[in-house]
Amino acid sequence: MADGLQTFDHAVRGRFNAWFFVAFDRYIERIARPLKRTAFDDLAADRVVEIGPGIGANLRYLPAGAQLVAVEPNLRMHPALERRCARAGVPLTLLPSYADRLPLPDRSVDEVICSLVLCTVPDPDAVLREVVRVLRPGGRFRFVEHVAAPPGSLRLRMQHALDVPWAWLFEGCDLHRDTAAAIEHAGFADTTIVEVQLRGSVFYPVNTMICGIARR
Ligand SMILES: C[S@@+](CC[C@H](N)C(=O)[O-])C[C@H]1O[C@@H](n2cnc3c(N)ncnc32)[C@H](O)[C@@H]1O
Repeated sequence: MADGLQTFDHAVRGRFNAWFFVAFDRYIERIARPLKRTAFDDLAADRVVEIGPGIGANLRYLPAGAQLVAVEPNLRMHPALERRCARAGVPLTLLPSYADRLPLPDRSVDEVICSLVLCTVPDPDAVLREVVRVLRPGGRFRFVEHVAAPPGSLRLRMQHALDVPWAWLFEGCDLHRDTAAAIEHAGFADTTIVEVQLRGSVFYPVNTMICGIARR
């Protein structure tokens, strides 16, 4: 990332990704709902910071009346996110920024959420450091992520084989990160992480998922 760069625009790929996440929103919601409910169900804040909200797949998990502070550097996601927030009546503060340097003060936030983002950010450790920095003591980071498949599995071999085209198509998405270890080592007071092998989803390479809550 160049210094001072706050947003990106991959033109056709960006448009494809915005279309993809709108088109598959209901399908992804159906397969990921148990994980999202585990992570997001008891969200309790009148202001929720979301890293990489994309087109707003997690608006349905915000508590009634909550404001969304959306840290989203991808310009192609903004129109759908703004439209869906307006439709859902969710007050939106859109921060067109990389999460590697959150434009938020230290210890100023009670709830940070993300889904399918730590796979894509260039430096997940830097993002997690920022999450720890902005959370108040006792504040929570809630996440749902796809991760590396179990060692020796067919899925892990496929994740490695698809590495380059997948990352190109999905704007940097890395199929085989050890995101659970990154969260465990990020400096939270405690973390609860559950790993799930999804069955019956057509998105086979990303069917090893984690969800959980880390407390500052
Ligand atoms: C796979 S999409 C997931 C979108 C949404 N969270 C969902 O679950 O549908 C990854 C998102 O992360 C965003 N992203 C990529 N790099 C980022 C960064 N450095 N900081 C914050 N968000 C980033 C992308 O723009 C995109 O919206």
